[in-house]
Amino acid sequence: MLSKSMEAAYNRQITAELYASNLYLAMGAYFDALAYRGFGRWLRVQSDEERQHAQRIIDIVVDRGGAVDIATIEPPGEFESPLAVWEQVVAQERDVTRMFHDLSNLAGEENDHTTLAELEWFLLEQVEEERVTRDILNEVRRVHASPSGMLVLDRDLAARDAAPAAGA
Ligand SMILES: [Fe+2]
Ligand SMILES: [Fe+2]
Repeated sequence: MLSKSMEAAYNRQITAELYASNLYLAMGAYFDALAYRGFGRWLRVQSDEERQHAQRIIDIVVDRGGAVDIATIEPPGEFESPLAVWEQVVAQERDVTRMFHDLSNLAGEENDHTTLAELEWFLLEQVEEERVTRDILNEVRRVHASPSGMLVLDRDLAARDAAPAAGA
């Protein structure tokens, strides 16, 4: 059984993953509209991955006999520039990492070893997501004032494969 505090923390994490999924979908549309189809594709695939993360956490809560409670997902707001978008992506990933650490601390306090085991995958996934998005941000910082540089980067990111099916 999940404690009420763990259940609430898991539900906050589900909401955060769904927020990230919606945010990246909106960002992808922003880039598509600017004909940056590579950035658009990359973010759309990432949006799919975030939704799978939410689904994976939902499954954990259900398996442990908890109640899933998905909160209202806040709208993503306006995007100012390609550079500002990538800064926001990195900030979003750091936020989610911090939330996983909070969840992990709570699980430690409650001796919830099952959660600690489940969280290992997510913590390592966050290291990967922070690294990849930070790399893209650094490249965008380097070339954002150069249309040809942005074109090359956009073409690079277009090569991203679709997200593997959940559980794969
Ligand atoms: Fe995620
Ligand atoms: Fe993420």
